Amino acid sequence: MILTDKRILLIISGGIAAYKSLDLVRRLRERGAVVIPIMTKAAEEFVTLLAVGALAAHKVHTDLFSRDDEVDVGHIRLARDCDLVLVAPATADLMAKMANGLANDLASTVLLATERPVLMAPAMNPKMWSNPAVSRNASQLLIDGVHFVGPMRGEMAEGGEAGTGRMAEPLDIVAEVEALLDTAPKPLAGKRAIVTSGPTHEPIDPVRYIANRSSGTQGHAIAAALVKSGADVTLVSGPVTLADPRGVKVIHVERAEEMRDAVLASLPADIAVMVAAVADWRVATRSDEKIKKSADGSVPSLEFTENPDILKTVGHHEKRPKLVIGFAAETNDVETNATAKLNRKGADLIVANDVSPETGIMGGKRNRVAIISRDSVDRWPDLSKDEVADRLVTLIAEKLAGA
Ligand code: C5P
Repeated sequence: MILTDKRILLIISGGIAAYKSLDLVRRLRERGAVVIPIMTKAAEEFVTLLAVGALAAHKVHTDLFSRDDEVDVGHIRLARDCDLVLVAPATADLMAKMANGLANDLASTVLLATERPVLMAPAMNPKMWSNPAVSRNASQLLIDGVHFVGPMRGEMAEGGEAGTGRMAEPLDIVAEVEALLDTAPKPLAGKRAIVTSGPTHEPIDPVRYIANRSSGTQGHAIAAALVKSGADVTLVSGPVTLADPRGVKVIHVERAEEMRDAVLASLPADIAVMVAAVADWRVATRSDEKIKKSADGSVPSLEFTENPDILKTVGHHEKRPKLVIGFAAETNDVETNATAKLNRKGADLIVANDVSPETGIMGGKRNRVAIISRDSVDRWPDLSKDEVADRLVTLIAEKLAGA
């Protein structure tokens, strides 16, 4: 975990959004970070020292001239003894002080003294955020190398007004902190990847559809792992209940034809990983109205037509990505079928898995796969779907590097 034992100096300044900073403290600590809080005088009007201190399990610093801390020049130690300074919420006042180099309280003095990355999550009334003085200060801070997360559009906590000024949500702030402190190598930086995930739904009429069993867990995990390695990822997802992975461009589709169109529109790319359980057939003529039950007990018959094979289309496309990877979910003769699929679909690798009901792979958290290339079969042990994703991305990076 990126934040394990990382020291985050959290400056809480005085805005109503300070209530969200309590949750922010928890989210940071859940990820292993040590949170050292500083509160401005105005912040104490919105949240209590006791609440912040208890959640952080750390002393809350407030005074520039503290008898306890000044023996070793407390503000300099605070500014130096951390991995990142996070200001959440950042008020217009504190931004103005920092942009102009003012240092008349502990928060502003620490901001002037620190050499660590500074991340600000501004929160203020939309009228204030759009004021030219605030824009000027924000631009100056950007030039000075300060990072920003938000503010977002939406309702203000004080009610009534909507506009840009809401503080970013705690989890989005945490994601930004993680991105700034992430020193992991990025072997796929500058590479574009397209991933398909989830099932497709093929409508019979406006209320009924046929579909495959697929939760999207493996495809979404691969999209997230590709982003972690620095790739620019487009995820084309069928209907799933999963949240969109962070940092991924997600295109939501229902039908196979929509999925194909979204994938082709996302080319060119360096990598394509087709994980979706695409329905092989769709209903030839779907009804615009709900098909009624007939009084005499006769049942409708459905005629099917073949869906486009997205993997095969991409595998033989003039803009074919350098690396095309397919999945083969089989219930029998897994490896033989996967090898045949490799050639038929023009893929470089097929990730084969046994989805017989007794394996529990469909909809489960674990997976056991074999990686099939033209000249080898590599059987991986039983792993979590996240581990399969990480390993696959390592393999992708090796293949693209020509290893
Ligand atoms: O032929 P089969 O459905 O077993 O092939 C599975 C692989 O092909 C998966 O990678 C799946 O995402 C892809 N596929 C596709 N379009 C289809 C059917 C399968 O992209 N219509």
